[in-house]
Amino acid sequence: MKTLIKGGKVVTAIETMNADVMIVDEKVVGLVDSDSDISRSFSEDALVIDATDRLVVPGGIDVHTHFESEGQIAPVLDTFETGTQASAFGGTTTIIDFAWRATGGSLLDGLEHYHQMAQGDCAVDYGFHMMVNEVDDQTPKEMDMLVDEGITSFKMFMAYPGRMYSTDAQLLTCYQKAGENGSLIQMHAENGIAIDVLRDQAIDKGQTDPVYHSLTRPALLEAEAVHRSVVLAEIAGCPLYIVHLSSANALQEVVAARDRGLNVFAETCPQYLFLDLTDLERPDFEGSKYVCSPPLRPTDHQAELWRGLKTNDLQVIATDHCPFCWTQKELGRGDFRNIPNGIPGVEHRMELMYQGAVAEGRVSLNRWVDMCSRAPAQMFGLYPRKGTIAPGSDADIVLFDPESPHVISAETHHMNVDYSCYEGHEVTGKVDTVLLRGQVVVEGTEYLGRAGDGQYLSRDLCDGLI
Ligand code: URP
Ligand code: ZN
Ligand code: ZN
Repeated sequence: MKTLIKGGKVVTAIETMNADVMIVDEKVVGLVDSDSDISRSFSEDALVIDATDRLVVPGGIDVHTHFESEGQIAPVLDTFETGTQASAFGGTTTIIDFAWRATGGSLLDGLEHYHQMAQGDCAVDYGFHMMVNEVDDQTPKEMDMLVDEGITSFKMFMAYPGRMYSTDAQLLTCYQKAGENGSLIQMHAENGIAIDVLRDQAIDKGQTDPVYHSLTRPALLEAEAVHRSVVLAEIAGCPLYIVHLSSANALQEVVAARDRGLNVFAETCPQYLFLDLTDLERPDFEGSKYVCSPPLRPTDHQAELWRGLKTNDLQVIATDHCPFCWTQKELGRGDFRNIPNGIPGVEHRMELMYQGAVAEGRVSLNRWVDMCSRAPAQMFGLYPRKGTIAPGSDADIVLFDPESPHVISAETHHMNVDYSCYEGHEVTGKVDTVLLRGQVVVEGTEYLGRAGDGQYLSRDLCDGLI
């Protein structure tokens, strides 16, 4: 099966060129001049997709999603099927979700459970990180076994005492193992022990509204946790990746570590760039829709995060997609501690980031591709199979219309959740056509793929030196 994407502007993380993309079966085989004889003869027996006035970019890679997750106060609403279909509509052709183990089970059992849930259901390619939510004597051994299975990154928590939290001793043990086997530690960096004190004190004072979720998780306690995590990683000699970094204070710690030459990296998420503390103050408990951890911050943090994206102090944009409907959020009426943590977003990452980064002139077109596709692929052992358009790479390709203004709304999104955090946000660029390994899976508003199109990705060790 041959496909030619004709007449578009190909944008990768490093170059922009007018070229036709030649695809055979699932792979890109070449990029050629549109007027060339090669393009003409290739088109004769190929499906030709007109990309005039479109950007032709590598499929997005969202390395932080929670589909079908059971580890929360309430079940997460998107299944692998609904969540990955929404991803496809948003131009994200690869997701990496988090497998975790039920209490008492092994990490490998936890992984197997996630394989069962995802297999045959995914609309885009998928991999797993392993959440290390309990550390015992077996954990380091299991980490080695998981690396052999293509699980090359491990999420640990300094937050959520009693549920996901690890002590410094447990962290160091796992960091040392990662230093040995070359895997990557992903850290949820918030000082959960101190935060729990502040949370309980707030409730005792009658401060029960959603905004106290943020006020009791101050940026300083995120920064402290990043700092401690960096120190432990330096001692253990392992690379470190801070997930969902939300504040200027935390970023300063990442910058300081990187300036010292350490392999410390971080992702931030659209919610920390486009939403803020005032959303948590919305009346009638509507603020609960915006509860996630780390929390939304006052707006003045946002300029620093954009600066970090521009200067590569922050490398990756992921969504931390974790949807709960309005009724589930209501569980926390009268006590913000019971509001399920997490917000939806997997569908809007590419368009929102195009808006904030490119349309509003903060960073370049290539950097947009870098943080949404190349850097996550490289960080998590998928590059150059994913994250670029080059001979030999998977033909995961998005035709993106940079001039198609529209408004984000729950009325039109595909995520399985009854509200959008970005309701009413205007964006100028639109995902138009999406190919997954050479197959058109989205065309305009139509989904042409099917559940099970997505393949499991066994990942290489992370290439930390990005
Ligand atoms: O609020 C969030 N982020 N929910 C998902 C779980 C996590 O910590 O990533
Ligand atoms: Zn987290
Ligand atoms: Zn998360």
